[in-house]
Amino acid sequence: MKQLEIISSSANETMELGKKIAELAPAGSIFCLTGDLGAGKTTLVRGIAQALNIKSVVQSPTFNIMKIYFDGIKPLIHIDAYRLADVDTDIGLDEYIGYETGITVIEWPMYIDNLIPETANEINIVNLGNDSRRITINTNDDGLLEGLK
Ligand SMILES: Nc1ncnc2c1ncn2[C@@H]1O[C@H](COP(=O)(O)OP(=O)(O)O)[C@@H](O)[C@H]1O
Ligand SMILES: [Mg+2]
Repeated sequence: MKQLEIISSSANETMELGKKIAELAPAGSIFCLTGDLGAGKTTLVRGIAQALNIKSVVQSPTFNIMKIYFDGIKPLIHIDAYRLADVDTDIGLDEYIGYETGITVIEWPMYIDNLIPETANEINIVNLGNDSRRITINTNDDGLLEGLK
């Protein structure tokens, strides 16, 4: 995988990055988002949703595990696996991960490791203090990487 590191100085900049990602990512793309609570994972997803022209408000689906937005240009599948930490039950998420016409984003992917294809892109966000975030993208998608540079 190739790596790109970006410093974001505001929630808005992180949303803009999300928008670019949505524009560059081919249908079927999967993004695993890691980072502490409050790092900015859902903020990035909001940017992705905006670029897809999704009007509904994107919230952390912690209590839903999965939410699919069908009202935009492409479906957005938003998974938050946090509550699956100690769960070993198959709830059928694999049907939606990598949904072929959509974009899949997964918060807390480590809890459903066995369901995530190797082709998934990885984005890690580290809070550097105040509004500063280090966003590291690991990907095999050269188009995405070049487009973000
Ligand atoms: N550069 C930044 N990028 C993303 N979020 C930021 C940034 N600076 C400040 N924030 C704030 O940090 C919080 C991130 O929350 P959220 O996106 O829900 O995090 P997570 O989903 O990782 O728990 C928001 O309140 C957002 O406004
Ligand atoms: Mg979140």
